[in-house]
Amino acid sequence: MGLISCNTCHNLATGGDDGLAAAVGHKWTSNPHHLGSPTVYNAVFFDTQFWDGRAADLGRTSRGTNPRRRPEMANTEENVVAVVTSMPEYVQRFQKAYGRDVKITYKKIADTIGNFERTLVTPSAYDDYLNGNENALSKAERSWYEKKFIEVGCATCHTGIALGGSMNMLGVTAKYKYANVGDFKGDANGMVKVPTLRNITQTAPYFHNGQVATLKEAIVEMGRIQLGTAISDKDAASIETFLGSLEGRKPNLTYPILPVRTASTPAQNIN
Ligand code: HEC
Ligand code: HEC
Repeated sequence: MGLISCNTCHNLATGGDDGLAAAVGHKWTSNPHHLGSPTVYNAVFFDTQFWDGRAADLGRTSRGTNPRRRPEMANTEENVVAVVTSMPEYVQRFQKAYGRDVKITYKKIADTIGNFERTLVTPSAYDDYLNGNENALSKAERSWYEKKFIEVGCATCHTGIALGGSMNMLGVTAKYKYANVGDFKGDANGMVKVPTLRNITQTAPYFHNGQVATLKEAIVEMGRIQLGTAISDKDAASIETFLGSLEGRKPNLTYPILPVRTASTPAQNIN
């Protein structure tokens, strides 16, 4: 505990994920279900969180990543609270944000991380277009959006502000080529969280188990397994061009200098 941070796996400098097929956490342990880290950018717009949709809000996802024995951060609630309260600067900051009587609990810390995550939105050329600036998308991007993305049927599932974020079937018309890598089968009804397509150009490899390296292959695989359509190379390239317009402007983040550890700060422990 203490070495791996949220940013290890959800790196805000690299699209909000880690570029790995399966996340690697405490003691170099990879995710036991071979699940990749989804991006945290725009997570505020998702109806539901995690690949199987088991968490509804962002405070809960922060708590969900910490439990004892989970390989991600292998931290405990008590230790998280002890670390934060051991540093006067953190305590002052909590008081400034929530008032002098604030009780620094695990839930409060998780909710605070959730509040930060709500700021991780990335408006893009696509939004400028939807907001009425017709020239924000090139003519090609616009017509490919309308003719290919919508017409082919991607938008039936990749919908809403995030172009994703709700639950849907995986393997509607054929079985996902790499379904056997890892043991993830979706939620109790076999439904999987539809990933956002925002910043999708920056979050390879693709799918829950990260087996698809290129966006083009992901697009063709989607056509085959979700829509029963053989998407030609040319059409895949068109869709890919449109998806590029979803690359958003990232919030301006300053690399933080963290409060200094004190004598009472629990030791970092990687055993
Ligand atoms: C070891 C890598 C790792 C670390 C560290 C980690 N996460 Fe994650 N995160 C994941 C993986 C893998 C998933 C998907 C897990 C699943 O669906 O079961 C995930 C899911 C999420 C989601 C849901 C996103 C979505 O699209 O469903 C959010 C939000 C999130 N993490 C935030 C955090 C925060 C905040 C922290 C720090 C407190 C954190 N994560 C630490 C790997 C990590
Ligand atoms: C029936 C619903 C449905 C349709 C239609 C659909 N998708 Fe998906 N899409 C999903 C689901 C569910 C996943 C998550 C699959 C997984 O990771 O196992 C996904 C994953 C993806 C991914 C990988 C995202 C990532 O972060 O790993 C891309 C890219 C994608 N879809 C693009 C498209 C495109 C382009 C189309 C149209 C050709 C399309 N999808 C049609 C539901 C759908």
